[in-house]
Amino acid sequence: MDDRLLTVLLLLLGVSGPWGQGQEPEGPSEVLPEESSGEEVPKEDGILVLSHHTLSLALQEHPALMVEFYAPWCGHCKALAPEYSKAAALLAAESASVTLAKVDGPAEPELTKEFGVVGYPTLKFFQNGNRTNPEEYTGPQKAEGIAEWLRRRVGPSAKRLEDEEDVQALTDKWEVVVIGFFQDLQGEDVATFLALARDALDITFGFTDQPQLFQKFGLTKDTVILFKKFDEGRADFPVDKDTGLDLGDLSRFLVTHSMHLVTEFNSQTSPKIFAAKILNHLLLFVNKTLAQHRELLTDFREAAPPFRGQVLFVMVDVAADNDHVLNYFGLKAEEAPTLRLINVETTKKYAPTGLVPITAASVAAFCQAVLHGQVKPYLLSQEIPPDWDERPVKTLVGKNFEQVAFDETKNVFVKFYAPWCSHCKEMAPAWEALAEKYRDREDIVIAELDATANELEAFSVHGYPTLKFFPAGPDRKVIEYKSTRDLETFSKFLDSGGNLPEEEPKEPAISTPEIQDNSTVGPKEEL
Ligand SMILES: *[C@@H]1O[C@H](CO)[C@@H](O)[C@H](O)[C@H]1NC(C)=O
Ligand SMILES: *[C@@H]1O[C@H](CO)[C@@H](O)[C@H](O)[C@H]1NC(C)=O
Ligand SMILES: *[C@@H]1O[C@H](CO)[C@@H](O)[C@H](O)[C@H]1NC(C)=O
Repeated sequence: MDDRLLTVLLLLLGVSGPWGQGQEPEGPSEVLPEESSGEEVPKEDGILVLSHHTLSLALQEHPALMVEFYAPWCGHCKALAPEYSKAAALLAAESASVTLAKVDGPAEPELTKEFGVVGYPTLKFFQNGNRTNPEEYTGPQKAEGIAEWLRRRVGPSAKRLEDEEDVQALTDKWEVVVIGFFQDLQGEDVATFLALARDALDITFGFTDQPQLFQKFGLTKDTVILFKKFDEGRADFPVDKDTGLDLGDLSRFLVTHSMHLVTEFNSQTSPKIFAAKILNHLLLFVNKTLAQHRELLTDFREAAPPFRGQVLFVMVDVAADNDHVLNYFGLKAEEAPTLRLINVETTKKYAPTGLVPITAASVAAFCQAVLHGQVKPYLLSQEIPPDWDERPVKTLVGKNFEQVAFDETKNVFVKFYAPWCSHCKEMAPAWEALAEKYRDREDIVIAELDATANELEAFSVHGYPTLKFFPAGPDRKVIEYKSTRDLETFSKFLDSGGNLPEEEPKEPAISTPEIQDNSTVGPKEEL
């Protein structure tokens, strides 16, 4: 973020970027005088500048070639440029035999067509001069990540280990190391293992076929071991002899076991927490500035091992910048220390009943009870405002929704909104006008509910705004309104008792934001 901002600022000022990145828009003026022949390919900041004339030549000369297709106007490309150059510099410094290049996409339509480029930036990796089916780059956007992705393709993605010393050296150096023990290095399982190692950039991999190492670690069959300098120290993944090594299973195993038993929630750990794909998250809310709160962590951690892979234990410091998490659970900082469990798939939330002290035993018991379906999920609700039915648009909250919306004598039309949602704000005047128009109709209620602060047992709201109509009668009917959001169409819909030919909405609803799930791969700009 900061890098990107800085780049934009520097661009505006016409200054060169943090790593000496040139900013003049004209490519040719930047061409460095190369030694001799007209065949030389120009370079900018350590990046080859290719065209349809020079790509073939570059493929011949560089057995490992990464090519970025960029557009001069593309902001994401500008943000990537300094990282891309820095990656080239990192690799050059260690004499890695890999070359980074770029192609101005709009200026080279033949190449973008040939390689099916549909957005910028697009990066493709060519190996052994093969122009067919280059590998598409979907790795990290930071220099170190780009360099590591390339290292794992031009070098071995895992280190071959011959003896105990090799194993020791690797496990000493890294916090988490994954070693594959295979009796036959030619087998398919090894290929699967190495393929996983090519993409799991934040873990270091080794592999061996040495019988004395099998013996040393007490193995009698092919196994992948994850060694870590914390918690249990080691986790084994035996390879199934019949089905072979399954990439998905191994990958889930590694994500699960490379995490600490308890992870503190913050902006660095949150992508990992959500990438772990563990269905249940147990959150302990504490105020870390208080010693008696910090002490609870020991008990919390003690309860965690039996739930590994099933429940992810997370600590949330209410004294840090975590208000969005507190809001999501409808909690106030003063309520810490307290526990909440959420199933991230159903987004159902669970709270312990009563004031049970937090001990290893009570934490484990709460987890078990939720997993066994013995705890009812709780629903967020604001308090019913005293004036909830005084304005034309009635205010609904979780606590009065059921009674009002499913009133058998009323036709109720409800707008489910989020306070920050711009489409909701845009339609607000039309909603007010609608309520005004029907204010004297005893049988019609126009209402709204802030769906970020109120949850309902009957259904959950996934987009904002969502409009639903609850016609009078005993059958609890719910009709979703998907048409144009204006007074005229709303009125037609109401007058016909909830019948309207369905059309697509003019503006799409904004989807519900989960707590945070920031991916590593940057967004692309369409052509
Ligand atoms: C290049 O790669 C394609 C697809 O992977 C393959 O079919 C082809 O045989 C390769 N060509 C050469 C010359 O290696
Ligand atoms: C995710 O990204 C958004 C926008 O870039 C940022 O505002 C937010 O703080 C990030 N959240 C986390 C948890 O990293
Ligand atoms: C955390 O505890 C400290 C010390 O008692 C207190 O000053 C602070 O307000 C607390 N923070 C929150 C968010 O409650």
